[in-house]
Amino acid sequence: MSKVIKNGTVVTADLTYKADVLIEGDVITAIGPDLQGDEVLDATGCYIMPGGIDPHTHLEMPFMGTYSADDFESGTRAALAGGTTMVVDFALPSPGQGMLDALQMWDNKSTRAHCDYSFHMAVTWWDKQVFDEMPAVIERGITTFKHFMAYKGALMVNDDELYASFSRLSELGGIAMVHAENGDVVAELSAKLLAAGNTGPEAHAYSRPPQVEGEATNRAIMIADMAGVPLYVVHTSCEESHEAIRRARMAGKRVWGEPLIQHLTLDDSEYANADWDHAARRVMSPPFRNKQHQDSLWAGLQSGSLSCVATDHCAFTTEQKRNGVDDFTKIPNGTGGLEDRLPMLWTHGVNTGRLTPNEFVAVTSTNIAKILNCYPRKGAVLVGSDADLVVWDPEKSKTISATDQQSAIDYNVFEGQEVKGLPRYTLTRGRVAFADGAIIPEPGHGQFVARAPKGAVNEALSTWKELTAPRAVERSGIPATGV
Ligand code: URP
Ligand code: ZN
Ligand code: ZN
Ligand code: ZN
Repeated sequence: MSKVIKNGTVVTADLTYKADVLIEGDVITAIGPDLQGDEVLDATGCYIMPGGIDPHTHLEMPFMGTYSADDFESGTRAALAGGTTMVVDFALPSPGQGMLDALQMWDNKSTRAHCDYSFHMAVTWWDKQVFDEMPAVIERGITTFKHFMAYKGALMVNDDELYASFSRLSELGGIAMVHAENGDVVAELSAKLLAAGNTGPEAHAYSRPPQVEGEATNRAIMIADMAGVPLYVVHTSCEESHEAIRRARMAGKRVWGEPLIQHLTLDDSEYANADWDHAARRVMSPPFRNKQHQDSLWAGLQSGSLSCVATDHCAFTTEQKRNGVDDFTKIPNGTGGLEDRLPMLWTHGVNTGRLTPNEFVAVTSTNIAKILNCYPRKGAVLVGSDADLVVWDPEKSKTISATDQQSAIDYNVFEGQEVKGLPRYTLTRGRVAFADGAIIPEPGHGQFVARAPKGAVNEALSTWKELTAPRAVERSGIPATGV
């Protein structure tokens, strides 16, 4: 049975035009005037945009002695309710665990997903087994590998491991990702704060100043450049890190930065809240920053020095956050945002004039699909693309509240925020999964999206690196060694 979306305006990363969109099965089969279909979805007053892609989630992730509370079922339900139609989650081997083994666990976790998903792989330790398994991971369609430069004693990898892994990825045509914070300095600052009696959630922010992020971002950029691999910096939260990315891009390096909707719209005053629960619920790494850093992130999206907006959705209940009631280093790090990313970015980006609707599509969907090499199957409104679409009503508004969210947790870090701009319909591969404020669930509808290695940026970078590689100088006469 075909569907046609009528009377709307198609908005993509580069075009805005009136057209109907015809969907047959999973894909878009026609775009143009006066199309007919068996079922009609009315988009009067709405924009028809590629569904959001969230390139950074942690669903049911084992972390800091517990598991993040949203799994693939509730997490992808939240995604669809907010206009996001694909999530990319991190398969996380525990130290010593093989990557293929971890992948099997993530395959099992994701069987009840409501929308399509892909995985990144995390490099949480390094030896020959990891080196040997990387090609098989890439073969499975997982081409992006995250390295934690923080979480010392748990997930952190050191510079020699970073360089070895980045070099391997360069050979294999993968992309390196980094959580850029100097874990050694964070550990020192945390110990000092605790020793001085600073045990509350505000000390989490003091233990991770912008300098730890700026230093690690610079280091990762230089190591990636020496290894010849493209680099994607996750959760860029401050000017110091943005400045490093901006400078690298200006110098022709292949580096992308990903601010989170939380860092764009919430600031560090949250940690000064007298209510312990309020502050602890907002503990994440990197922490929220002040307004100057926020302005820098917005400017980065406007100028193109930052490429994508993600959530890093890693939701913990209040009960779980209370694991750190006497010691901020034990508060599970992470916040939610899957349902709120698009409405919050539209409200604070498009409605304020910071972003055009086309730029909004670029940073929430198209740029991400291009970087992750699943464009134009995803991130596009084109004939042949998957019908992952959001029919966006710019006049629809609500007040964000945990009481009517899809996420499994008992609060929302955006509680009380007025948003204007919400989905009327969300379609996942042609299936209407959200209509007029209600989810129409189908756990298991979501499919894994395999991605090919050696994308255009990898090819260009390796061509350049080959051309500029050190070469021995050809000499005609070599002086005899004097004896
Ligand atoms: O605090 C955060 N960001 N938690 C999720 C794990 C990570 O570092 O991305
Ligand atoms: Zn991280
Ligand atoms: Zn993360
Ligand atoms: Zn289905």
